[in-house]
Amino acid sequence: MLKLKTEAPEETIELGERLGEVLNSGDIICLQGDLGAGKTYLAKGILKGLGVEREITSPTYTLVNEYQGRLPAYHIDLYRVSDYKELYDIGFEEYLYGEGVTIIEWPDKAGSLMPDNYLNIIIKGHDNTRTIKVIPQANKYISLVTELKKNVDFSFR
Ligand SMILES: Nc1ncnc2c1ncn2[C@@H]1O[C@H](COP(=O)(O)OP(=O)(O)O)[C@@H](O)[C@H]1O
Ligand SMILES: [Mg+2]
Repeated sequence: MLKLKTEAPEETIELGERLGEVLNSGDIICLQGDLGAGKTYLAKGILKGLGVEREITSPTYTLVNEYQGRLPAYHIDLYRVSDYKELYDIGFEEYLYGEGVTIIEWPDKAGSLMPDNYLNIIIKGHDNTRTIKVIPQANKYISLVTELKKNVDFSFR
């Protein structure tokens, strides 16, 4: 587990960029935290770090936004999903098990479609401070956390 800290929204974006830079094809990132925790800010950074140059908006209403950086990238927000069966309509599993990187806000809403292997990120905090815990679920993500550790500035520790 890697525990990081940010003191401003821009820092969370910057931290996301450092993660986006080390992601690999097929990686799944789950972002957990209350409304306003900073999941979308972190996702924006991750997408920037993946080389996405298009404007990045929250997929709250669209459920999924697709991007192309150095890898295909899918930003999914399940907040408005009330039944995981709705996920069949958006082809949720095709995103998860394809070549791209998938970022999921509110992953708990995926119910039984929740993947077994993913990088879990839990964001908590108040005012402008956020603690960001990065937890590898499955061995595949341990080396990713090591790469991230090497890629982040000490100011985040
Ligand atoms: N250190 C920080 N990191 C991220 N967001 C922060 C931070 N400090 C304050 N904020 C504010 O918290 C909110 C995070 O919004 P957002 O990323 O959309 O949340 P979520 O997607 O988790 O609901 C924004 O209004 C942002 O300005
Ligand atoms: Mg959000």
